[in-house]
Amino acid sequence: MGPRLIVWPMLTLGEVFSMIVIDGPAALDGELKVQGAKNSTLPLLAATVLCKGQTVLHNCPHLSDVDTAVRILEHLGSRCQWQGDSLVVENAMTCCQIPPDLMREMRSSIVFLGAIVSRCGEAELCFPGGCELGPRPIDLHIGALRKLGVEIEESGGCLHCRAPQGIQGTYISLSFPSVGATENVMLAAVCSQGTTVVANAAREPEIADLAAYLNRCGARIYGAGEGCLIIDGVQELYGCEHTVMPDRIATVTYMAAAAVTGGNVTLRDVDNTHILPMLAPFEQAGCSVRQLGRALNIMAPPRLDAVRHIRTMPYPGFPTDAQPLVMSMAAVGRGTSIFVETIFENRYKHAEGLQRLGANIKVEGKVAIVEGVEQLRGAPVMSHDLRGGAALVVAGLCAKGRTEVGGVEYIRRGYENLAGNLASLGARIREVGEPTP
Ligand code: UD1
Repeated sequence: MGPRLIVWPMLTLGEVFSMIVIDGPAALDGELKVQGAKNSTLPLLAATVLCKGQTVLHNCPHLSDVDTAVRILEHLGSRCQWQGDSLVVENAMTCCQIPPDLMREMRSSIVFLGAIVSRCGEAELCFPGGCELGPRPIDLHIGALRKLGVEIEESGGCLHCRAPQGIQGTYISLSFPSVGATENVMLAAVCSQGTTVVANAAREPEIADLAAYLNRCGARIYGAGEGCLIIDGVQELYGCEHTVMPDRIATVTYMAAAAVTGGNVTLRDVDNTHILPMLAPFEQAGCSVRQLGRALNIMAPPRLDAVRHIRTMPYPGFPTDAQPLVMSMAAVGRGTSIFVETIFENRYKHAEGLQRLGANIKVEGKVAIVEGVEQLRGAPVMSHDLRGGAALVVAGLCAKGRTEVGGVEYIRRGYENLAGNLASLGARIREVGEPTP
């Protein structure tokens, strides 16, 4: 067995002791409720900036990224309070600036820009942080906001934005269907003068969830999820109650965990239509997936087959966020699987950790070739980003012996109680160490 405690030179003391420890292999069996979607919650919280009065978000996941969004809202003057899994936001904006430390904590903080500048006529914030997946420019956000009449000056890594004439409806054609840019345009344009048409808008289900919330607050957004958005500007929005959609990437994470362990798992609170674009590799690998209303059952064979060919694409293609999780399946699938990552340049960092566990993976630029091995072996490994970290946990479940996954703070950004949920399905897994302050 490898060393019990690994000291990673780049980490602080708190991070060193923060890890997920797995004693594998496990056979997962049981039922689990899937959390609300992180990628929906964050733009929904930004949208509350536009809505007078109170918003109650039900099925809101308890995540460190959600905590960051709450701190941004509180800095802007809103009052936020948890009531179980519901987050109550009372909008009382007094400020139109986000401090650099909060901006750097996560990439999605940039979607506050459209909402703040629409609400206040100005906004000041710095370039966002987020998981290290290669260059993550915001040129599409900036270009689209400029077309809506926002004057943007960049200096010292910060953006100074003003809309002296208010936001003006216009025609916007995105050169790539960026999720964040689409959300920013929606938030900026929803209370504009006139009509905005967004061609080549992102079609991710989280876009439709954001439009559903805004429309319930009084907005007039048509075509969300269909690639061409039409936004008729309204004068005012009023907060409402909204239930956050289920997290499709958390769903696929638990499906991958069931798959690599030869498990039989039923997931509740799933939107099965959102899972369809991710089903092919599970079927290819020999899993039986049954969709049962708002639940899903997955039964896996004792040994998976290769997942064959995965090419990440904007929705409704195979999502880049699910690529690392399916790579853990491919690592133990019989035969060769080929991955082509087309969305982010640097999204194979988990391959190194999988290799430490005994996987046979060759990465060449956008392509990764995985020759499945019969058995992974436990080892200390390190997360470098949210989904890559979850992929290492999934791989650790089927590895023989002890796997210690460091960098848990990445995993906490997007998973509510990942280790506890997997333990409830029969895995021998625990999280050690406190969140770093
Ligand atoms: C969102 C998701 C993230 C997911 C990604 C792609 C949230 C909080 N995050 O991220 O989990 O992996 O969609 O499905 O919802 N791009 C530009 N210029 C821009 C904006 C984006 O070149 O102004 C490029 C990016 O570098 C990337 C691609 O477009 O290569 C996709 O980015 P985008 O769809 O914007 O992703 P995010 O909204 O950041």
